[in-house]
Amino acid sequence: MAARLMDGYSRVATDLRVSLTDRCNLRCSYCMPPEGLPWLPAPEVLTDDEVLRLVDVAVSLLGVRDVRFTGGEPLIRRGLVDIVARTARLAPRPEISLTTNGIGLTRLAQPLKDAGLDRINVSFDTLRPETFAELTRRNRWSDVVAGLAAAEGAGLTPVKVNAVLMRGVNEFEAADLLSWCLERGYELRFIEQMPLDALHKWSRDTMVTADEVLAQLQESFVLTPDDPRQRGSAPAETFVVDGGPGRVGIIASVTRPFCGDCDRVRLTADGQVRNCLFAREESDLRTALRAGADDAELARRWQAAVATKRPGHGIDDPSFLQPARPMSAIGG
Ligand code: GTP
Ligand code: 5AD
Ligand code: SF4
Repeated sequence: MAARLMDGYSRVATDLRVSLTDRCNLRCSYCMPPEGLPWLPAPEVLTDDEVLRLVDVAVSLLGVRDVRFTGGEPLIRRGLVDIVARTARLAPRPEISLTTNGIGLTRLAQPLKDAGLDRINVSFDTLRPETFAELTRRNRWSDVVAGLAAAEGAGLTPVKVNAVLMRGVNEFEAADLLSWCLERGYELRFIEQMPLDALHKWSRDTMVTADEVLAQLQESFVLTPDDPRQRGSAPAETFVVDGGPGRVGIIASVTRPFCGDCDRVRLTADGQVRNCLFAREESDLRTALRAGADDAELARRWQAAVATKRPGHGIDDPSFLQPARPMSAIGG
């Protein structure tokens, strides 16, 4: 049988999430401080060719079927369209998706679609431009709204919208966000806030839980759970809204973890394999790559890295420690 990325709990990673930059043009408070972060020095960031080499190893030798580009903000990576085009020419061709804050999509949605991008997930937390400016510390609400429309227009469908509700900020927007997304045909998912902010300010007491979000939604909509057997390794539990065809998802990473079905592996912008958002260890592929390792050697190192994956994120363990890197440097 062809080589696979299997861990010690028999989970097989087939979904590779590649961070293309740790930089971002927003400063969401659940992620970054207002002044930004010390960004990775340019020489440490994988070049386009290096990214493609590693993605090729994952796809052609290690059974990876889905490739998602993330950040920081992947749309600010200059070579993105070319990276997507080259990924689409790999054999076997992976499904290619992107997680973005949406700024720049008015310009890039169509070129990305033409390059072979299949799907897109856009972070959008509030219908109120002032709340958006408070949450992201940038006045870019209308750019994101226009970006979403551009993604839909380019056929990057279904357009998925990711929303994080924050206590005292956008806490009560669940139903309004859902109506807005249903009207436009976007698939909304609510994500529980996770302890991945750079300043380690997260607290369980201030997190808006999946059950709270569902209670808000049920005041305005009838939600029918999808058959859980169809969920597979997807992070979202999904519900049909008011008899369909619209749906809504809840990503309850904290209160209902889905680690047992995880099929993800991550590659950071500086070429480190991470088995989990919350991993404390990383395995360096960049050094071997730059030292001239051949594909078989890179594949072997990648398999060894995945073999060490822990059973879960352990947020509930008394010994849980927030990872040193914040979300922006890991890749959502
Ligand atoms: P699709 O449903 O295939 O579109 O992908 P996705 O939901 O994995 O995509 P996206 O990048 O939009 O991820 C949404 C959110 O799911 C992330 O921001 C995380 O909050 C959560 N998530 C994704 N992968 C993991 C994971 O490995 N562990 C945990 N705890 N959460 C994850
Ligand atoms: N908790 C939950 N989701 C987060 N995101 C960023 N930081 C956090 C966090 N601390 C989300 C973004 C984006 C996705 C990549 O991750 O909103 O949709
Ligand atoms: Fe940027 Fe995403 Fe972090 Fe917001 S969550 S600051 S959009 S990397």
